[in-house]
Amino acid sequence: MRGIILAGGAGSRLLPVTTVSSKQLLPVYDKPMIYYPLSVLMLAGIREILVISNPEHLESYRLLLGDGGQLGMDVSYAAQDRPRGLADALRVGREFIGDEQVALILGDNIFYGHALTEILGRERARLDGCTLFGYQVSDPERYGVATVDGAGRITSLEEKPARPRSNLAVTGLYFYDNEAADLAAGLKPSARGELEITDLNRIFVERDRARLIDLGRGSAWFDTGTHDSLMDAGLFVQILAKRQGIRLACVEEVAFRMGFIDAGQLAVLGKAFAASSASGYGTYLQDLAARA
Ligand code: G1P
Repeated sequence: MRGIILAGGAGSRLLPVTTVSSKQLLPVYDKPMIYYPLSVLMLAGIREILVISNPEHLESYRLLLGDGGQLGMDVSYAAQDRPRGLADALRVGREFIGDEQVALILGDNIFYGHALTEILGRERARLDGCTLFGYQVSDPERYGVATVDGAGRITSLEEKPARPRSNLAVTGLYFYDNEAADLAAGLKPSARGELEITDLNRIFVERDRARLIDLGRGSAWFDTGTHDSLMDAGLFVQILAKRQGIRLACVEEVAFRMGFIDAGQLAVLGKAFAASSASGYGTYLQDLAARA
């Protein structure tokens, strides 16, 4: 399975903060936003990643993540010249996807949960068609909304409905069979001229090949597209950091725990950070490596 992070868009709801910076590079407490979706893909065991962003921001992502080799990964980049819809990521990534299954994640979505790694691994292994991940919210009209039957099969899917049929929001993480790339290429643009992810997902629903996994109460999901939601997510990460000493979405730690790099490589990364910064990030990595 290959992974795509969609880190494009205008970030217009965050202006003027996004005047010169890509939204997905903004800090969520102590890390760039993209670390959070990147770590979700890593927890699913995915090592080949494509980052899609606006042409003017791609170089910043390259500076941040390089070719991914330092994390035992392979990271590549592609430009989306203007926001063309979430499903367009599969068109841009067509060649990268090749013959593989693909996980698409939105660069502004933050997931947390003690069962997340297990859920991701299980759903990857039993993927058939498309798998979406749902989260109960108090304001479903802001999101894609699904209803499911007792077996987790999706029975209806609507994008930002005025009268939602459930409070199960569809989060920005999507697992697809290889055929999704061809299906996305065949989508018709919506009234606003974009390839809508919900239109793609609906094709799988009509074929009875779409499943939704409810992430459940013991988890947290944030999208960070507004000043308030960005602040909420940052506070959540800060609370875990202060209370438990956990650094959420520390990609070097995830790479180590997933076996992408060994303790020696982790120590080297920690040393480099510690030498150039007093943020504590380097010593955190060094401590992890020393305890291994
Ligand atoms: C997009 C999707 C929506 C999904 C949401 C999750 O909406 O269209 O179905 O629930 O992401 O973050 P957007 O945030 O682009 O309006």
